[in-house]
Amino acid sequence: MFTKAILRKPGRSLVKGLRSSDLGTPDHSLALRQHASYVEALWQCGLETIVLEADEDYPDSVFIEDVALLTPCCAVITRPGAESRRGEIYEMKKVLGEHYEQIYEIEKPGTIEAGDIMMVGKHFFIGISERTNIEGARQMISFLESNGMAGSTIDLEKVLHLKTGVAYLENNNLLACGEFLKRKEFSIFNIIDVDPAESYAANCIWVNDNVLVPSGYPITRQRIKDAGYKTIEVDVSEFRKLDGGLSCLSLRF
Ligand code: GLY
Repeated sequence: MFTKAILRKPGRSLVKGLRSSDLGTPDHSLALRQHASYVEALWQCGLETIVLEADEDYPDSVFIEDVALLTPCCAVITRPGAESRRGEIYEMKKVLGEHYEQIYEIEKPGTIEAGDIMMVGKHFFIGISERTNIEGARQMISFLESNGMAGSTIDLEKVLHLKTGVAYLENNNLLACGEFLKRKEFSIFNIIDVDPAESYAANCIWVNDNVLVPSGYPITRQRIKDAGYKTIEVDVSEFRKLDGGLSCLSLRF
């Protein structure tokens, strides 16, 4: 179970965030309202939230999940593959110092963004992507192993981050779409299939027996409900314009 989450408000510079598609420019006022609704959804799940002020120097810093991996016994500060995001780690080090005694840091030439890391109990799947390299994964796995956990890598074909296409919903249930439906690494899970027309909805988050689902994806929401979960819909349309999803917007621990 999670008890806390760290988030960062979206800044006005959000409009300059990295993006791979043209879904339009995010509306900052709407993004702020959507972020506030997301915080409320986490409250509904019983979490205490720590909401950092916007950092205008880093347009993508609202996607706070990428800059740290939080585990039950240690935290790891990442080294984002996107150079424009590297400076996001400095404030994160200070913030995590208030919550963790053991904090590691990924070093050059390793790169890793935690959107590429999926926690399944004590095992962490790490996507090798344009943002996460083998060296970053190697360092991460060594930190995990020195704390009684484990990790393994999985090559990504199309998606930005591993969790763009899969979400572990606990109880051996994996929400998956596209390239992840038939991967041998995931054959041990009960797969909840995301319809290709709703692929964005593969990025859901499990929070204390609730599943947060993006608004506007009814087929996926129903499949998650059919698997026995209570769902909470959250509109994240402005973050989608920058390839961001529900998982990217918080660090849950
Ligand atoms: N816009 C989110 C990212 O590319 O990191």
